[in-house]
Amino acid sequence: MLAARNFSSVARGALKNSQSLRGYATAAPTAAFAGQKNSKGNYTVTLVPGDGIGPEISQSVKDIYTAAGVPIEWEEVSVSPILKGGKTVIPDAAIQSVRKNTVALKGPLATPIGKGHVSLNLTLRRTFNLFANVRPCVSVKGFKTAYDDVNTVLIRENTEGEYSGIEHEIVDGVVQSIKLITWEASERVARYAFNYAESSGRKRVTAVHKANIMKMSDGMFLSACRQVAKDFPGIAYDEDLLDRVCLQITQNPAPYADRVMVMPNLYGDILSDMCAGLIGGLGLTPSGNIGRDASIFEAVHGSAPDIAGKGLANPTALLLSSMMMLRHMNLNSYADKIEKAALGTIAEGKSITGDLGGKASTKEFTDAIVKKLVKA
Ligand SMILES: NC(=O)c1ccc[n+]([C@@H]2O[C@H](COP(=O)([O-])OP(=O)(O)OC[C@H]3O[C@@H](n4cnc5c(N)ncnc54)[C@H](O)[C@@H]3O)[C@@H](O)[C@H]2O)c1
Repeated sequence: MLAARNFSSVARGALKNSQSLRGYATAAPTAAFAGQKNSKGNYTVTLVPGDGIGPEISQSVKDIYTAAGVPIEWEEVSVSPILKGGKTVIPDAAIQSVRKNTVALKGPLATPIGKGHVSLNLTLRRTFNLFANVRPCVSVKGFKTAYDDVNTVLIRENTEGEYSGIEHEIVDGVVQSIKLITWEASERVARYAFNYAESSGRKRVTAVHKANIMKMSDGMFLSACRQVAKDFPGIAYDEDLLDRVCLQITQNPAPYADRVMVMPNLYGDILSDMCAGLIGGLGLTPSGNIGRDASIFEAVHGSAPDIAGKGLANPTALLLSSMMMLRHMNLNSYADKIEKAALGTIAEGKSITGDLGGKASTKEFTDAIVKKLVKA
């Protein structure tokens, strides 16, 4: 392990320092779903339709849930920023809804680039302490891509790293951006990754890093992973460089089906889009933001302004994200039923959207899934 040799002494130093600075954090792996059924036997779930194609794909999910008889009621809220005390914030009603229901399904939110309000996605992650972003990428049977055997699970630290939002201009023409890595957040996401591996039958956790360059920050991330690994003797642990993992997965994704990859924020963002590309694109890739106070499920893709309002969007990624949500809520049988109908529709290839090479509109694709559910 060339990389391990390069940074090991620095990483050991970081581990020693961080342990002497603070006690060893023992974050609970995740908040259990704490929603209660109402008098009609339904759970309430917060729905944020979002921007761009968000309302169209949210409607598709709602229609499919109605057809499948899923015992949930949607509480629709907007997270459009409002001005409060001179700051742009998320409306209180939205915050309270997620806090009460402890679970939400969220459409994409547009973020202004290089100006304007802070990313609402980041605000939501910080508000609800959504510390782990889980991104599975599994080949869709019947939908031909370069590989038929992609089955990766990537867990991304979700609250800090390059996304800490600490940037300043030191002098004219020189800008500094701080990559913040804490022992506590690294330990928490590592522990979640090991728990995830254990509960999903994966035998290995691989920490993905650039500690050969960012010796202290990524070095400490690795130290936290190594420390947590000792508590999971049944799960193998190793480390690999981000660039090498990118190369290896694109050449042969099969070996990655046995493991969970865990990594700092930015690496996870980029690597998960790369994995999404291997299974057919962003229209098929779900994710879950797991937190202590609540969990929010969302597609990996953005608001797709180029096709918004045209009825062309593929709702699969949001639908599969909602399957992760149903499993988080222990409503597995509904998740299985809907997943079978959606993936079956894609495999048939008759009513698929443009991004998958078909000609169907969002509504036609949705109707085809609904038809399968009604027949089942
Ligand atoms: N989680 C989020 O809320 C999130 C994530 C990523 C980007 N964004 C925001 O979304 C906006 C647009 O970002 P972008 O254009 O870089 O990325 P994007 O994911 O919105 O779009 C990239 C490309 O993929 C296509 N695409 C995406 N989702 C699709 C779907 N469901 N069906 C069919 N085609 C789909 C788009 O048409 C576009 O060509 C930006 O404001 C960005 O900040 C939000």
